[in-house]
Amino acid sequence: MNEKIVIKGGIPLKGTVDVTGAKNAAVAILPATILARGTCVIENLPRIADVLIIKRILAEIGAEVEFDDDGTMTVDTTNINTSNVTMNLVKRMRASYYLLGALLSRFGEAQINLPGGCAIGERPIDQHIKGMEALGAEVRTEYGMLKAKAPNGLVGSDVYLDVVSVGATINIMLAAVCAKGQTSIVNAAKEPHVVDVANFLVCMGAKIKGAGTDVIRITGVEKLHGCNYSIIPDQIETGTLMIAAAATRGDVVIKNVIPTHMEALSAKMVEMGIDVQEGADFIHIKCDKKPKAVKIKTMPYPGFPTDLQQPATVLLSTAEGTSMIVESIFESRFKHISEIRRMGAKVTTDDRVAVVEGVERLTGAPVRATDLRAGAALIVAGLMADGVTEIHNIKYVDRGYDHIEDKLKKLGADIRREEVIREEADDLY
Ligand code: EPZ
Repeated sequence: MNEKIVIKGGIPLKGTVDVTGAKNAAVAILPATILARGTCVIENLPRIADVLIIKRILAEIGAEVEFDDDGTMTVDTTNINTSNVTMNLVKRMRASYYLLGALLSRFGEAQINLPGGCAIGERPIDQHIKGMEALGAEVRTEYGMLKAKAPNGLVGSDVYLDVVSVGATINIMLAAVCAKGQTSIVNAAKEPHVVDVANFLVCMGAKIKGAGTDVIRITGVEKLHGCNYSIIPDQIETGTLMIAAAATRGDVVIKNVIPTHMEALSAKMVEMGIDVQEGADFIHIKCDKKPKAVKIKTMPYPGFPTDLQQPATVLLSTAEGTSMIVESIFESRFKHISEIRRMGAKVTTDDRVAVVEGVERLTGAPVRATDLRAGAALIVAGLMADGVTEIHNIKYVDRGYDHIEDKLKKLGADIRREEVIREEADDLY
């Protein structure tokens, strides 16, 4: 069913809201359960489309999977019976590349669909392939599929990543934990979800040191076992809610968070003149005036997260002054800008730089999400705009946010989900 989100904006968000488990940890930890012949119980999973797709993929290849309403998934991978995962489902989820490392480790071979590109850039996987080949695998790309095999098993090695890549760092970890000998991943990504995956693998019996630093060292073990694990809170959902609170000039306590994961955004919001108070597991955002214009450059963790660039652009669209945003990670992550221009934003872009001239206010309009975080940005825009905003293509939002409209409604937003009648979607603009 094609749905849209309808928001009547201009209401300051107030109250408390709980953050759910991290999407980008979940989409790696669930394929990682393939590494053990046993049962894993994973708690605090977000109920989002990408998690439901992985659940179906695991079941299709022979795992016993149960997903409770409270976000706990029980996965018994004892009877997984194939390393060939080329069903259409795989194409629908970008993070399906993690199946490569997990299946290659368990079966010595793997065949998966090549992940699609997406709206934010080409997103090559050459560093993933470089890592698998360094561990002794032969990797071929043919007929739109990645085929990997390591007939003599995987052997530990040093892998120097040419670019800091979250996906490649995690995928190489998955392949290396049962390889023979030592593996070092140099120039590794340090994101919180990279550390979460490493902690999960250690919980399964892996030997990993240095996750969260530039160099991760892995000592291969004979085999892994099932375990119980709870996913960390979602850094990007936390940041999106922090931004929505400030954008609506609200007063919101965001709970079940890890404040240290949010430091780049918190520091930038303090620079904007927004009141940011931190506790052990909460962040309190208060904002009663226009934020000051700032400069933002997206960087690998602990730098400013690229996934928050799009919502932050919207927050700055009504700042005092002119802001500059440099998107250094992905080559085309400004597709939300043409949509917010329809709401009165004054933003000019040139390649990876956006110049955002603060305007008095945004006004509601029908807009269309082009990717997950663009959709989140448009929700923030609708919440702060004067009048009604309709956001189409919210299937993108449902990939990464667990019932976002319920969370926002609890904070006082006038927001609802509606079915899109076919012709209406065609006449959008
Ligand atoms: C992960 O994508 C996240 N997705 C992205 O979140 C996030 O934006 C990104 O990391 C950066 O933090 C998941 O975790 C499922 P990368 P990933 O490999 O792993 C280049 C969201 O909204 N690169 O760190 O694909 C790449 O083109 C999504 O939740 C290569 O050149 O990102 C990019 O410029 C969007 N070769 C840079 O590295 C490779 O082999 C960082 O990409 C791999 C990546």
